[in-house]
Amino acid sequence: MAPSTPSSVVSRSGRFSGGPAADVAAFSESISFDWRLWRHDIRGSVAHATMLRSIGVLTAAELKAIKAGLATIGAEIEAGTFTWKTELEDVHMNIEAELTRRVPAGAKLHTGRSRNDQVALDVRLWLRDEIVALLDEVRTLQRTLVDLGASNDSVIIPGYTHLQRAQPVYLAHHLLAYVEMLDRDHGRLMDCFDRANVCPLGSGALAGSTLPLDREQVAKLLGFVGSDGKPRVTQNSMDGVSDRDFMVEFAAAAALLAVHLSRLSEDVILWVSSEFGFIRIADAYTTGSSLMPQKKNPDVAELTRGKSGRVIGNLMSLLTLLKGLPMAYNRDLQEDKERLFDSADTVRRCTRLMAAMLDNTTINASACARAAADPLLLATDLADYLVGKGMAFRQAHHVVGAVVALAEKTGRPLDRLTLADFKGVDPAFTADVTSVFDLGQAMARRRLTGAPGTAEMKKQIARWRKSLG
Ligand code: ARG
Repeated sequence: MAPSTPSSVVSRSGRFSGGPAADVAAFSESISFDWRLWRHDIRGSVAHATMLRSIGVLTAAELKAIKAGLATIGAEIEAGTFTWKTELEDVHMNIEAELTRRVPAGAKLHTGRSRNDQVALDVRLWLRDEIVALLDEVRTLQRTLVDLGASNDSVIIPGYTHLQRAQPVYLAHHLLAYVEMLDRDHGRLMDCFDRANVCPLGSGALAGSTLPLDREQVAKLLGFVGSDGKPRVTQNSMDGVSDRDFMVEFAAAAALLAVHLSRLSEDVILWVSSEFGFIRIADAYTTGSSLMPQKKNPDVAELTRGKSGRVIGNLMSLLTLLKGLPMAYNRDLQEDKERLFDSADTVRRCTRLMAAMLDNTTINASACARAAADPLLLATDLADYLVGKGMAFRQAHHVVGAVVALAEKTGRPLDRLTLADFKGVDPAFTADVTSVFDLGQAMARRRLTGAPGTAEMKKQIARWRKSLG
């Protein structure tokens, strides 16, 4: 029999004499944010209904009607014509109530299912899609960084420690450091996908069901399968409804990705400053000041740096949310979604915009060359030169320190000292000392795996080009 009003399928039917106080309804609703699970909710319901048909709970005609009804509702949601009702609390109830209003068999859809395993299913389905999309954005950003480095592969900049000029590196080498970080982010997201990719449906409210549900069939229909093609279903009903580890893992992977993007942003912000002037960002990716007419600000990078705060916060919120929960489902868990959505939305946008901004960034090669021409960047090479002459490194370090002090005292750059100056500090210096200050040669000398040398940098670019396609 078709219930005549949507509210008759609400969880309160039967047991309660009336609806919740208006304040309570507004306090406990989640439709204002979980509506976005609608696609996955419908997908899950179609799989569940298909299984209910195969175990004889639904007739073929009922299944057909349910599927058609859900498809129509999906189309209406997509078109923006579906009316969400706050009094129906959440996405699950909104869709089921509307389906049942239109299709009598809708009243059988919730057989052997609880909103507890339904929402656990929906968020897993949603997160899987989200991770796939994010992985794609991460790859795009990696490619952008490789391309920017490759098309400026002769540009050398100072490498910094303590934000003090340290040793020369290729700009490409600096950018490839982020490609490495992003690759680990990619790996972490893949791991997270694997853990999310287990079907909780059939866990019921917390204790499964007395009905002969075919959990494996549902899992297969929803793509919860391992690389061996076997269905993957949760193995404990209480864990199945209350496990949010996969969300925490995603939030952690997202937070680390956000931190990497924030570090990259910081480099961009420094590089675009007048003090560095290493890069120029296209107007479309910068903003002006309402007061100072000359300003062109790197707001995309600044906001990316700033937004890492909320992504880190979301991870803390989720952990705190979970830590005191007794078994099994508790309504507290409704609070997980906004944090999850926010982390996913934020890192996806930041990753996409970072790639777009860098795609519209040019390198100021002459400013980079001016900075990289600082001979002090090669002070360590000078010590290595003395090591090559047989001197102990500690002594060489001391000698070069004295040479640097002499240069400073006499107001000359390191490479303008005469051979007599060098010899005056230590007789180990010979005429070939000038070759130390040839930057091209200095870069060629850096041959170790992972070093910023010319050949190695080109090798790394080629490696990434190949693996990123
Ligand atoms: N909106 C709820 C959530 O997000 C769905 C599950 C509600 N279950 C319940 N027994 N009240 O967690």
